[in-house]
Amino acid sequence: MSAHKSTALVTGASAGLGREFCRRLAGTCEVIIAVARRATELQALAAELEGRAEVHCVEADLTSVEGVARAMEALRQQGPVDYLVNNAGFSTYGAFADLPIEGQRGMVSLHIDATMSLTRAAIPFMRELGGGSIINVSSLVTMAPGKDVAVYGATKAFLNYFSQALQQELAGTGIRVQALCPGFTRTEFQDAMATYGFDKERVPEEFWMSAEDVVAESLAALDSGRVMVVPGEGNRDIARAGLAYQAGLLQ
Ligand SMILES: NC(=O)c1ccc[n+]([C@@H]2O[C@H](COP(=O)([O-])OP(=O)(O)OC[C@H]3O[C@@H](n4cnc5c(N)ncnc54)[C@H](OP(=O)(O)O)[C@@H]3O)[C@@H](O)[C@H]2O)c1
Repeated sequence: MSAHKSTALVTGASAGLGREFCRRLAGTCEVIIAVARRATELQALAAELEGRAEVHCVEADLTSVEGVARAMEALRQQGPVDYLVNNAGFSTYGAFADLPIEGQRGMVSLHIDATMSLTRAAIPFMRELGGGSIINVSSLVTMAPGKDVAVYGATKAFLNYFSQALQQELAGTGIRVQALCPGFTRTEFQDAMATYGFDKERVPEEFWMSAEDVVAESLAALDSGRVMVVPGEGNRDIARAGLAYQAGLLQ
């Protein structure tokens, strides 16, 4: 292990939060394994980070078994990883019964299957290292379930439960697990939802955060021992109200 270079694997590294995680972690890690489908964007990131980190670009569609296998192979070849950021994601928008099933299955594959596989592959190496950080990018929507994002929210709720249970199982190993639950964040995410008719212009300005602020809060919270991390005071108010509402459903 003496030749180990501190390493991060980030999925969805070609844009938004994933790219920002890579930028931030390049100050901490010597090697970044950047995974996404778009090679041009990954290469642009590698060029940007030149001199700050050794970037390995892995072009992979993580909704496919082959894509996940490619990312896992990179994890084994370039790892062990100190940081695993399961961030790649997208959302459809609209009533479940009216949407084609393929997109819904895609979210299950990407948010759940790929996260499980990469996490399962990373943990034995992290144990060997004596520690590590796993960040599963969930969503604020899990705190206040609503219509039009039924499967998206459900896949993210999986990540919350998974992260909390995993942290209990990994107590004493030095491995930290976080479920990051951002609210509206300025990235390309809502552009993909716009193809389903979502209008981001209708979201009031005060609801938005920057990717920089979300990632800074996530990384700062790693030492706190908290699994559930909701960035932004306004988002935490929404989370508290959503959880209180859900508690009320039990009465
Ligand atoms: N932005 C928000 O308001 C918001 C709020 C709550 C939670 N989140 C979560 O934050 C995470 C990051 O999203 P973002 O806001 O940064 O959105 P984004 O700017 O659209 O970035 C999404 C990233 O995921 C990658 N990705 C999408 N499908 C993929 C696939 N099949 N295989 C591999 N990579 C794939 C994209 O890369 P390629 O297209 O190159 O593959 C891109 O790098 C997601 O999990 C999202 O659910 C976002």
